[in-house]
Order: sequence, then C-alpha cells, then structure tokens
Amino acid sequence: MLFKQQVWLRQKLLVLGSLAVGSLLYLVARVGSLDRLQPICPVENRFGGAHSQAEFPLRALQFKRGLLHEFHKGNSSKEQVRLHDLVQQLPKAIIIGVRKGGTRALLEMLNLHPAVVKASQEIHFFDNDENYAKGIEWYRKKMPFSYPQQITIEKSPAYFITEEVPERIYKMNSSIKLLIIVREPTTRAISDYTQVLEGKERKNKTYYKFEKLAIDPNTCEVNTKYKAVRTSIYTKHLERWLKYFPIEQFHVVDGDRLITEPLPELQLVEKFLNLPPRISQYNLYFNATRGFYCLRFNIIFNKCLAGSKGRIHPEVDPSVVTKLRKFFHPFNQKFYQITGRTLNWP
Ligand code: A3P
Repeated sequence: MLFKQQVWLRQKLLVLGSLAVGSLLYLVARVGSLDRLQPICPVENRFGGAHSQAEFPLRALQFKRGLLHEFHKGNSSKEQVRLHDLVQQLPKAIIIGVRKGGTRALLEMLNLHPAVVKASQEIHFFDNDENYAKGIEWYRKKMPFSYPQQITIEKSPAYFITEEVPERIYKMNSSIKLLIIVREPTTRAISDYTQVLEGKERKNKTYYKFEKLAIDPNTCEVNTKYKAVRTSIYTKHLERWLKYFPIEQFHVVDGDRLITEPLPELQLVEKFLNLPPRISQYNLYFNATRGFYCLRFNIIFNKCLAGSKGRIHPEVDPSVVTKLRKFFHPFNQKFYQITGRTLNWP
C-alpha cells in the first residue's frame, strides 16, 4: 500500500516537474520575442528625409505596425490614417534581382524588421514602359502605408536585367540602396527553367529539355541566346548599373546561404541599410517538411513561403552542368572582383 502511494507521489512530482520545465521554456521563448521589442535603439536616419528618427524607438514602430496591419485589413478609416501619420513612401531600398535568386524570401525576411515595410506585389514600374508612363505618383500610390520612420522596400527581379531600369531608378533617387541576391549561376538557370517548365505544364504544353535550350546543338557550346543563361551572367548586367550608381550603393546577398543559414545574411543587410539589428534566430525556424526556413513574427504568427518557392529541379545531364559551370567561371570571377564579395561557386 505504502509502495503504491510512493509510486503515485513520484508520478505526481514528475508531472509537476515537467509542467515547471515547460513553463520555463515558454518564458524563455517569450523573452526571446520580447527582446525584439526592446526600445533600446532608435532607427538611424542615414537615408535622410524630413523626419528625424532619433527619438523614435523601435518598440513604437512595432506597436504601430499592429495598427498598420489593421489598416491593411480595411479596419481603419482615413481619419485614422491621418491620425497615425501613415504615408505611402517611395522605396528607400529595392531588391533589383536576380530572378530565382531568392528575392521573395529576402523581402519577406527583411519585413520581419520593425522598421521595414514591404510592397507585397512586384510593381514592375521601372521595367514596364506602360507602368513607367503613368508617372512616379502612380508608383508611390502602389506602396504600402507606413510610418515616416520606416523604410519601404520593393522587389521586382526583372529590374536587374532590363536595359532602361538603372537610369529610371537613378532619376527617382540617385542615392537609393540596391540589393542583389544571387545564386550559383547554373543552379539559378535551372531554377529559372523549372519555373517556365511548370507554367507550360500547367497549360498542358510540352517544352524542351533544359539541355536542349542551354546548349547550342550546332556548336555544342553554351547557348548565350537562352535567357536563363544570359540572366546568370551577373557581371554583364551589373556593369550597366555601374554607369549610374557607385558600387557602394549595392549589396550582394548570397542566395545559396540565405537558404541554409539565413540569419547572417540578413544581419549583413541590416548593416547595409543602417538598421539596428532586430532580426534574430527567434524569427527563423527550419521547417523539415518544407525543407526551408520559415518566418516567425511573434508567438502567434508564423509563415512559410508559398509552394512555388523551392521547387524540385529536373535532373540535368552532368556534362551540361559542368559545361555551364566552366562557362560562368570567368564571369563569376569578375563579379567577385567588382562587388568585393567572393562566393563559393565552382
Ligand atoms: P527554387 O524554387 O529553385 O528552389 P525567387 O523568390 O527570386 O523566385 O527565388 C526562389 C528561390 O528562393 C527558390 O528557388 C528557393 O530555393 C529560394 N529560397 C530561399 N529561401 C527560401 C525559403 N526560406 N523558402 C522557400 N524558398 C526559398
């Protein structure tokens, strides 16, 4: 009898102990999230502008972002917009490319920062003549509402490869910050192909194999007329941009590393944008089902990127992969030299 009571007591103690440990772990996680809200550091104002950010703590931005969310849901009136100083600001930084480099992941991850507001859609203002003709006010009106102390970021990957874009962006803001996210060029080209292939399959159309597009059947050399190949010659495109902007206005994000180890890449971007470090490991968790990092905004709200990000690539003939890697090699070297960022590409 006594033995039975002892076992019962031990089980009870075990349950209570687990509850205590659970609560402790919960508190640790909660403190992790609260840490992001600490009002220790004002947002620096290296971007200039009429509003001084000196006395505007990040905590307030975080709080106001809640209101902003309400506004987006349509729960706020025009009076509230005025009351809360909401404005539609032109972007202070643009993710100009590269297509399939991880542009969506980068934008969504930067949006974890309380001082960053993203334009959800690709606006294609500078690369689309029809949109561009509508004027800069049209562009500004496409921007999300934000507080003057926040910075708006948009991404349209076609900007990087479109001839007219550097000059047009320069005319809007010659000191804008430009983000380029790149992946190993052959992988990027295959990813690009996979996206197009999926589009064709959705319409029940057949499509060529990657090998057929990437290699010229007459010469057996790399087909530089194939768009997916041309886009991956990063240095060629960057050189056009450098006619308008100095290299200091660009930041290269390693898209391959953003997949496997996002935090250090995001911290480099925070630095480049002169934002206090606010994105932490708490905000990023690996989702084994997706095979990618997903985003945690707070204890309640988290999300992974859509299924169209992270497609399975078709198998490509290894000799074609080798040929492409050899082809890209000298361009990559030049890209490292110009940008000052060496990446681990073959
Ligand atoms: P794949 O589909 O080839 O894997 P973009 O947004 O510029 O179109 O880039 C898409 C790529 O983002 C995907 O290419 C994927 O590898 C990459 N990516 C990086 N981080 C990701 C993340 N956390 N979730 C999903 N995809 C991510």
